[in-house]
Amino acid sequence: MKIRNINISYFKNLNDANEYAFELFRRELDTLKEKNFCLATGSTPVDLYKLFVKSFNEKQTTWKNITSFNLDEYIGLEPNNKFSFRYFMDSNLFNYIDIQKENINFLSGTSNPEQEIVRYEKEMDKAGPFDITLLGVGKNGHIAFNEPGTPRESKTHIIDLTDSTIKANEIYFDNPNDMPRQGITMGIDSIISRSKKIILIAFGESKREALEALISNKVNMNYPITYLLEHNDVEVITDIKL
Ligand code: GLP
Repeated sequence: MKIRNINISYFKNLNDANEYAFELFRRELDTLKEKNFCLATGSTPVDLYKLFVKSFNEKQTTWKNITSFNLDEYIGLEPNNKFSFRYFMDSNLFNYIDIQKENINFLSGTSNPEQEIVRYEKEMDKAGPFDITLLGVGKNGHIAFNEPGTPRESKTHIIDLTDSTIKANEIYFDNPNDMPRQGITMGIDSIISRSKKIILIAFGESKREALEALISNKVNMNYPITYLLEHNDVEVITDIKL
């Protein structure tokens, strides 16, 4: 299915969906040129990251020319906190590939927020456009931590998480009450304007409402995923029959 510049590919089988997403990245990992990726956390990309590790172990791909930026982080969590997004990336991907540590860029959830926002936007400016941005989507249509109502022109910012997001993510914490109520996230504009190509993976029926908002072909700030309608190269990979 194609809506504006969004190509939506349906896969019955999640392995096939992940293989398809992997193939889109593999083309970029194949070249010796420096590439810049923007990466996501969440349960959805875990199997894709396993494919990255497998391919690296089989010496098919290398990350030595890759710079990465991650979309978001919880406010208040140190990078070595096992519930932080940084810890998630280290333990699902970065520790098992040859990306150079100094090429990993992450938002800090514990630094002075104003300074951190300026620092991250500057680092992104310096690095240039993202060759590929990987996104998941929240049940309520959020992308990164851009919750419903986030304006199109938003840059990196602090956000109060919605009840829907808290409910969806608190299950990953030993004690649900420990889940931070705020996040720091790239904004909508940081994502849309900086990404050459966006790959969004959405698995499971809980993401149906968000994808239906997208295919309704109307930009609606209550479903931040719909801002992708304004981008010129988006691949949506899903197991939801729309
Ligand atoms: C979090 C992240 C998003 C992610 C979303 C979906 O809130 N900030 O980047 O896309 O959750 O997560 P999951 O893949 O676990 O459904």
